[in-house]
Amino acid sequence: MNPTTQTDLGTPASPLDETVKVEIDGLPVTVKAGTTVMRAARESGVDVPKLCASDNMKPFGSCRLCVVEIEGMNGYPASCTTVVEEGMKISTQTDELARLRRNVMELYISDHPLDCLTCSANGDCELQDMAGAVGLREVRYGYDGANHLDAALDTSNPYFTFDPSKCIVCSRCVRACDEVQGTFALTIEGRGFESKVSASISESFLDSECVSCGACVQACPTATLMEKTIVDHGQPDHSVKTTCAYCGVGCSFRADMKGDQVVRMTPDKDGGANHGHSCVKGRFAWGYATHKERVLSPLIRENINDPWRMATWDEAINYTANRFKEIQKEHGVKSIGGITSARCTNEETFIVMKLVRAGFGNNNVDTCARVCHSPTGYGLKQTLGTSAGTQLFDSVMDADVIMVIGANPTEGHPVFASQMKRRLREGAKLIVLDPRKIDLVRSPHIKADYHLPLLPGTNVPMINALAHVIIKEGLLAEDYIKERCDLESFEAWKKQILKPENSPEMVSEISGVPADDIRNAAILYGSAERSAIYYGLGVSEHSQGSTMVMGMANLAMATGNIGKTGVGVNPLRGQNNVQGSCDMGSFPHELPGYRPVQDDEVRGSFEKKWGVTIDPEPGFRIPNMFDAAIAGQFKGMYIQGEDFAQSDPNTQHVEEALSSMDCVVVQDLFLTETTKFAHVFLPGTSFLEKDGTFTNAERRINRVRPVMKPKQGKAEWQITQDLAKAMGYPMNYKNEAEIMDEIAEMTPTFTGVSFKKLDEVGSVQWPCNEKAPMGTPIMHIGGFVRGKGLFKETDYVPTKERTSRKFPLLLTTGRILTQYNVGTQTRRTANMTWYPEDLLEIHPYDAEMRGIKDGELVALASRKGETALKARITERVQPGVVYTTFHDPATGANVVTTEYSDWATNCPEYKVTAVQVAPAVHRSKWQHKFEKRAKEQGKILETS
Ligand code: SF4
Ligand code: SF4
Ligand code: SF4
Ligand code: FES
Repeated sequence: MNPTTQTDLGTPASPLDETVKVEIDGLPVTVKAGTTVMRAARESGVDVPKLCASDNMKPFGSCRLCVVEIEGMNGYPASCTTVVEEGMKISTQTDELARLRRNVMELYISDHPLDCLTCSANGDCELQDMAGAVGLREVRYGYDGANHLDAALDTSNPYFTFDPSKCIVCSRCVRACDEVQGTFALTIEGRGFESKVSASISESFLDSECVSCGACVQACPTATLMEKTIVDHGQPDHSVKTTCAYCGVGCSFRADMKGDQVVRMTPDKDGGANHGHSCVKGRFAWGYATHKERVLSPLIRENINDPWRMATWDEAINYTANRFKEIQKEHGVKSIGGITSARCTNEETFIVMKLVRAGFGNNNVDTCARVCHSPTGYGLKQTLGTSAGTQLFDSVMDADVIMVIGANPTEGHPVFASQMKRRLREGAKLIVLDPRKIDLVRSPHIKADYHLPLLPGTNVPMINALAHVIIKEGLLAEDYIKERCDLESFEAWKKQILKPENSPEMVSEISGVPADDIRNAAILYGSAERSAIYYGLGVSEHSQGSTMVMGMANLAMATGNIGKTGVGVNPLRGQNNVQGSCDMGSFPHELPGYRPVQDDEVRGSFEKKWGVTIDPEPGFRIPNMFDAAIAGQFKGMYIQGEDFAQSDPNTQHVEEALSSMDCVVVQDLFLTETTKFAHVFLPGTSFLEKDGTFTNAERRINRVRPVMKPKQGKAEWQITQDLAKAMGYPMNYKNEAEIMDEIAEMTPTFTGVSFKKLDEVGSVQWPCNEKAPMGTPIMHIGGFVRGKGLFKETDYVPTKERTSRKFPLLLTTGRILTQYNVGTQTRRTANMTWYPEDLLEIHPYDAEMRGIKDGELVALASRKGETALKARITERVQPGVVYTTFHDPATGANVVTTEYSDWATNCPEYKVTAVQVAPAVHRSKWQHKFEKRAKEQGKILETS
């Protein structure tokens, strides 16, 4: 067996608590009732041979290799489909069983190429292992008869091959796609000897519905489905456990290594967030880490119009420190600031935060969470007392009703979506609030009970209307409210919600959703035993993002849906460490653990620890920094892994701000749109070089472990530490573990966290402290963190962004599975195969009215700017609404988004922009963008 192979107990664990006693090969064994004989044997160290079984899918019973003898039972039952009973006496190794198993293997091998020595799976093939295990020595049938050895290879998928000549038709791939991933892309076509695995209806993998999650590749016991990296480089010899660097699901992976080279990323079965599943990004799109365009040397230039020149680390650090000191001398202490990155580790963000507060001497620190989930932090803290989601992901398996609001999990949080879809297939009800028909509304074996296709910008009246119905229908959890919530605030909220403008009929007029659907959806949510809300940026990125977050918390409290499993208010966080970067005190008004910088006691504890005086006044938020830069008061910025010029709204404004500064320092992997405005470039490290922790959307602190040394010579925390020293504030950490020790010492919700503990137990969810040494999977059990749950009134204040005759359509934005944010990483991988450019989704009616054809270039214009991209005509969007993604710098979708932002947090209103769309008549105007894109795609093809 290959040393990187993960344990497989054959069938899933039994959910029952009672135990039974059995005897296996003469030895007494105690297992949970409901366990299969195979699992019972494997748990006790007896490996019954198997081929079609795997412990992440239901038993199937097709290969007959796992037969056993059971006293008192006729014949030879399959151990994978037979459940243990009290007193059962099982024999797994007898002469007759050996003969039967050899016969089964003989049949498989007689239709299988005997090229083991040159096969890419050699050393990691269950068929090979089983042939050895059953002692097969000869195959009597020869190869003269009919066989499948000439079946054609399918190499269409950029990441894995499908070689049907090696297929034993065990169905593990089909079942993995159905049960684990939930895409149902594979079938077994034909019968008997003619049976074969087929992607969709006899299509190539690339043309099929396959979403390249890799579950089938993982499940395949032969070389039929095989990673191309393994075909190219051979089998790994060891693994290092780490965490995906893409989305906030925070999947655990094993970096399978051959020497010092990564040859595969395999989802870790012990991963608390993913339980051995993955999506195409984490599983396959990691090649960017070693992409040839990575910049590995510091760069400096005096002026942004000058060419870059290479510099040594000392030169770049000293140059930056001197420039920052000069700026502060000339323009004051508050004229510089720093931005932490939600893609960096907790340790890396903590140290940038500390550099700003202790080294720069101001609180001008902010994070890219400002532009995504800052309303989550604000809204949940106000109402519940903690700036984070309430549940662990597994809680969804106990939900009776799932309400998805402004999130598209199958594209943005795919591994969690697979889990959610499993629960939906088991029978949970689904309500989707989204302007578009996202996949969850209708996909194989899933159909939303209610899809409320509300117009962008109408979330708040919609949540108010849902609450209105719940009150009117008598669905309030009166006892829960009395016991756990602040009654005065509840009464005020109730009064507000019962106003006529919050009735389904009135809200129907604003939102475009039929009143009956609003009413029925509310009744469904309010009458279930356990209802859970999952939401995304379609909630937060609005001028009323914080109001909506509080509206959802109100609704959950009013119906008793917080503080137990299967319920809650759960933000689906975008980036891998967006939760962590917020936890680490990256907001200008909060020190680590969300504690106000104005609080003398809190500030005092940091002053004592750090030996400095900390400014009691909150610093600038990102938009304030930009405004102050344009006003000539803010002159220097240290940006850790953030591409403002592409990711932030109103690009023209951002560019003006960046070009107004005297010293912009960017720490990143690649030159980006933002580095066009930078004076110093400090090369960063990829996740494969980092040592530290990421915190996912369920507050789970996962370890990130390096598999290679920093390619540019320095860990990112060392860069920041060196800069702090050069600025005159020495820090003396020896390693990342010491930084985490300081985080734990200074943050009440982290006091029980250390690398040692994480290495022992895998992961913990904060709060992790004396009260909860093993962490807190579900928050607010028995009472809210803030004491009594606080209802906040949620009056609807419409956005200032309105449609007009000139801009009659509403643009909203989102993500696509294969690309990630501004595309810096995924655009440098073969993921470009699927979605090489942003597209504008437009309803057939709106397209026809404008004479727009599918695939044609269209101009997209708003009050702020104009860009061009290809149209995709689809009924996924409703008339009056258009949609695009923001992954492609050639499109620069944020050229059109506005300066409007959330009233409480300044989170930009990406989701509502009034636009006009028309055929792009002046194609030449956009030519340079498309040339740039073509050049980029050429590069991808060269390197992938
Ligand atoms: S492709 Fe692999 S997993 Fe699928 S049926 Fe064939 S051998 Fe089994
Ligand atoms: S890669 Fe995933 S989606 Fe594609 S066929 Fe395999 S299991 Fe299904
Ligand atoms: S779901 Fe998110 S964390 Fe998991 S593999 Fe995909 S991108 Fe990575
Ligand atoms: S493993 Fe039991 S029948 Fe295949």
